[in-house]
Amino acid sequence: MTSKELAHKPVLIKEIIKLTGPKDNETYFDATFGNGGYSKEFLELTNCNIIAIDRDPFANQIAKEFKKKYGKRFDFFHSKFSKINEVMEKTEEKEIDGFVFDIGVSSMQLDFPERGFSFMKEGPLDMRMGQEGTTAYDVVNSKNHEELADIIYYYGDERNSRRIAREIETYRKSKKIETTLELAEVIKKCFSNKYYKKHPATKTFQALRNNELEELHSGLNHALKYLKKNGNLCIVTFHSLEDRLVKNFLKIASQNNKINKVLKPSKEEMEYNSRSRSAKLRFYEKNNLEFGYVPIEDLGFKQS
Ligand SMILES: C[S@@+](CC[C@H](N)C(=O)[O-])C[C@H]1O[C@@H](n2cnc3c(N)ncnc32)[C@H](O)[C@@H]1O
Repeated sequence: MTSKELAHKPVLIKEIIKLTGPKDNETYFDATFGNGGYSKEFLELTNCNIIAIDRDPFANQIAKEFKKKYGKRFDFFHSKFSKINEVMEKTEEKEIDGFVFDIGVSSMQLDFPERGFSFMKEGPLDMRMGQEGTTAYDVVNSKNHEELADIIYYYGDERNSRRIAREIETYRKSKKIETTLELAEVIKKCFSNKYYKKHPATKTFQALRNNELEELHSGLNHALKYLKKNGNLCIVTFHSLEDRLVKNFLKIASQNNKINKVLKPSKEEMEYNSRSRSAKLRFYEKNNLEFGYVPIEDLGFKQS
């Protein structure tokens, strides 16, 4: 395996394995392949099969190495949550024993400043996981004050959104904001307390890369459709907004009957992997109740 793959420490993986209990010949769907940390653990532990996707083309290379090593047991598609149905049509599987979603930024995205995800390292304002569509640069430099404030508030859960949007607009009058550190400095000016627990740019950066709630919503609906009865779903999130969406979705899916378990990393894991600190794992087991598509509005979110 490559050094890049080994660099990513899979979050809450022990807990996921314990909850899901993979067995030989079962098929699991890894919806966020990334550096392959989860897939690897499943494939090494049992003789199960994995169908994996990732929207980031950088994952393709790691997937190729997995294919060489695990052969028929491993299938990878460069795709995204909202297209899980299309991926399923391409495979022989009709139903899945378990889905895993790890909704964070991978180290392969954070550690390469040129991807523009990190407010700690200088890079262009990009932040596109799938390397397609609008960049953070476009959003930050072209949206008006109100639009920006709404994005930062809605997708970042950032209370200081109006102030940040105003500061960005003022800065833009003299020059465009081109880099991650430049934007992080503009945001810092909006916070009076210099001793912060989380970097002041955390939520705004989350908002700029995170017009992903619709994707997550779509992925959860697909997952539920293809899960076997008694099949399971594990979702790891790192931000309150995503966790709220998942929590509300699972509440409806379980028709309030089952406990919607939430787990956090152990102290040891947080020490070993500081990125795991804000992670939350929610687990769901499909019951026998039939129900259809859950609209995003039913989860307390609006369609953008
Ligand atoms: C935190 S990483 C996953 C790390 C992986 N569990 C591991 O242990 O190596 C999240 C991955 O999900 C991918 N991703 C994010 N949104 C996606 C979407 N809508 N569809 C498919 N993949 C997505 C990202 O590109 C990233 O590689």
